[in-house]
Amino acid sequence: MIVCVCHRVSDREIARHARAGMSFDDIQFELGVATQCGQCETCARDVVAQCNALHPVAALEAQPRSHTVQLSARIQDSAAWNPPSGLAAA
Ligand code: FES
Repeated sequence: MIVCVCHRVSDREIARHARAGMSFDDIQFELGVATQCGQCETCARDVVAQCNALHPVAALEAQPRSHTVQLSARIQDSAAWNPPSGLAAA
């Protein structure tokens, strides 16, 4: 179902972004939802809230709004992450 007619954004697209851990503000910025006439804001927020309720871990991870990627110590110490100096890409 199309939620935002102005930007042709569906509930499935909003839900996909919410399940990826994005907040409403992030989704609004990314998709443009509720940035023109605003008639879709309540419905779009409801879709995000439903997804956050179904995926509370993703919602908690989204709150710090950090856009940095944290590598685990296992990856940072692995040979794949630190190839021998002779194999480093040019
Ligand atoms: S319907 Fe979404 S901004 Fe107009």
